Amino acid sequence: MNTVKTVRELRAAVARARSEGKRIGFVPTMGNLHAGHIALVGKASQRADFVVTSIFVNPLQFGPNEDLAKYPRTLVADQEKLVAAGCHLLFHPNVEEMYPDGMQGQTRVNVPLVSEGLCGGSRPGHFEGVATVVSKLFNMVQPDLAVFGEKDFQQLAVIRKLVRDLNMPIQIIGEPTARAEDGLALSSRNGFLDDAQRAVAPALYRTLQQLAGAIRQGRRDFTALEQEGREELTKAGFRPDYLEVREALSLRPAGLQDQQLVILGAAFMGNTRLIDNLAFNLEAQA
Ligand code: PAF
Repeated sequence: MNTVKTVRELRAAVARARSEGKRIGFVPTMGNLHAGHIALVGKASQRADFVVTSIFVNPLQFGPNEDLAKYPRTLVADQEKLVAAGCHLLFHPNVEEMYPDGMQGQTRVNVPLVSEGLCGGSRPGHFEGVATVVSKLFNMVQPDLAVFGEKDFQQLAVIRKLVRDLNMPIQIIGEPTARAEDGLALSSRNGFLDDAQRAVAPALYRTLQQLAGAIRQGRRDFTALEQEGREELTKAGFRPDYLEVREALSLRPAGLQDQQLVILGAAFMGNTRLIDNLAFNLEAQA
């Protein structure tokens, strides 16, 4: 696996692969790779002949009081994992390469509707930062397909809309969330949890499962259910940010007739903000 730092080197390497008739798969990441990321690379290798991964901790998607400075940077360990996973090319640019006119001078991409509320409500500007960097990366790599984790459910919806709205000829593939044995969704931020917090953290997914169970049993009082879920999270030791039942494709608040639902939650354990979701189809059980 080659590691390149400039757009020029990246384009040359991708052009070589293309000239050999290879299909290009792309996995954008911010590094500190865990089994969830490796599954994305595995999915890309199944569907493409040449897999490009990027590692770039994108300052544009972090708010002023968020964890940009302490976001874990583990390049050497990441490179080893990517080699083992069958990645062919790692793109690891610095901030100047990505934002040569500075972040203030950067043209931004704003994806309306699906970016609003949930993480978009709690983290103003976050999805603009994500959509901007992903658009740039897509233009740099020009992949045939790109793989994203379903753990970031709203992000995946934003990327799908971005690609549709801007007519980018890229197939977007969602990969199911990788979980620890106790159900906790794998995340680079889990490393911030101390032992006691880590022991309690699976309560986030358990709460989503409880709510989904209640809906499957016929409850449709979504507002009351959301409130009950937030109380469960508080009892477990979380500070809930949001817990909402939405229609899974549009992400608008769930209505009584909706069959494809997703419950999305974000909650703080100490200073660490964890997110998770559970999507399900009521038609499938009828
Ligand atoms: O999901 C992430 O790691 C990031 O949001 C992404 C898609 C790599 C953009 O910086």
